[in-house]
Amino acid sequence: MKLVPATESLAHYLSDHATALDHALLPGEALALEDLRRETLGIVGSEMQIAREQGSFMYLIAKLTGARRALELGCFTGYSAISIAAALPSNGLLVTIDKDEENIAIARRYFQRTGQSGKITTKVGNALDELGKLFEEHGPESFDLAFIDADKGPMLDYFEHCMKLLRVGGLILADNTLWNGDVTNRSSQDKCTIAIRQFNEAVAQDPRVEATLVNVADGIMMLRKK
Ligand SMILES: C[S@@+](CC[C@H](N)C(=O)[O-])C[C@H]1O[C@@H](n2cnc3c(N)ncnc32)[C@H](O)[C@@H]1O
Repeated sequence: MKLVPATESLAHYLSDHATALDHALLPGEALALEDLRRETLGIVGSEMQIAREQGSFMYLIAKLTGARRALELGCFTGYSAISIAAALPSNGLLVTIDKDEENIAIARRYFQRTGQSGKITTKVGNALDELGKLFEEHGPESFDLAFIDADKGPMLDYFEHCMKLLRVGGLILADNTLWNGDVTNRSSQDKCTIAIRQFNEAVAQDPRVEATLVNVADGIMMLRKK
């Protein structure tokens, strides 16, 4: 088995060669995306923004699966939302949820500047509440793709809601599922690490999905609904 150890120079190399998302946008929109990364660096919690290569990866996944209607839990300042929305057709829909109004306000500015605002609906509120409302509004099996990137404690609850909202063949991407490598470090027993371990164990054994955990950025659990 060959494993490439993560190094600082490899992190830059990965980022430099992840161009799919930039090339999907017009030049001015791609510059706006870089502005978003810069602006986010200046705010509290900037490390929560997904890596550039993860954005490109998710863009390609959304494109390859032909997703038209997508759902995101955890918008923050909008980088992952733009990555997904850019892959949707012009009449596609991304519903993104975040409890923080200030983050959503930043995200909305960049949805405009990257030409994605027509496809994105933002919901400010608690993810579990908003998921319930989405089910009422859109009904079962009404989405093709879901990205789970909010708080880690309720990840299995988020998974169950997404399973109801996704069509058969739809895809769930769950972020931070390697949790900085702590998932295999038995001395890490904090609430988030335990919740992520429980999530990974449960979905990997769940007969309703096909699961694989990929080593992109902080780890993405990919789940195809059977
Ligand atoms: C890791 S960040 C998301 C990063 C984002 N996907 C990106 O690419 O920039 C997590 C976000 O989830 C939001 N969040 C945390 N718990 C939440 C909850 N229970 N309901 C709604 N949003 C929540 C936080 O406000 C934060 O903006």
